[in-house]
Amino acid sequence: MAAATPSSSSQGNGGQGQINILVLQGPNLNLLGTREPEVYGYDTLDDIHARITARGSELGATVSYLQSNAEHELVNALHAAPSAGVEFVVINPGAFTHTSVALRDAFLGVALPFIEVHLSNVHAREAFRQTSYLSDVAVAVITGLGAEGYLYALEAAVQRVRAQQPKGPRDSGS
Ligand code: DQA
Repeated sequence: MAAATPSSSSQGNGGQGQINILVLQGPNLNLLGTREPEVYGYDTLDDIHARITARGSELGATVSYLQSNAEHELVNALHAAPSAGVEFVVINPGAFTHTSVALRDAFLGVALPFIEVHLSNVHAREAFRQTSYLSDVAVAVITGLGAEGYLYALEAAVQRVRAQQPKGPRDSGS
């Protein structure tokens, strides 16, 4: 079986300072659009990814995507991310949020910063959704803002990565 490889959907501006962001989508998110739309909205995953890609282009970010219903594929994508040049991860872990020590360990293992996103407000739902194995090692958590949450996460990710990039001679004040 071929390994799941993130697909890159944004060429961005291709210029210097292009930022590489990986968006990971967990189980059942491939059903968005028809899955409990009163909870998750009517946008499909492709709709959401198109919006992220468009915003990424404006911000100078190349965004890669992987949705998987298999925990190990998300873990493998994280393992491959540093050598693929990924600088920041935005993840909606879906139900793995509440169960996956493996995803937590993978994030700690690769030491990549990430923002955890949920379409719904998990804190306003069942008690079991209020435990996350990822939140305390995430840079931030965005929950309950629907698809917009991914765009806020992308903007914060780009800002964070840019803040850590070395400044050019024009910016150094010399
Ligand atoms: C979700 C919330 C999770 O509890 C649930 O299992 C999902 C989606 C969200 O985006 O609101 O699959 O991550």
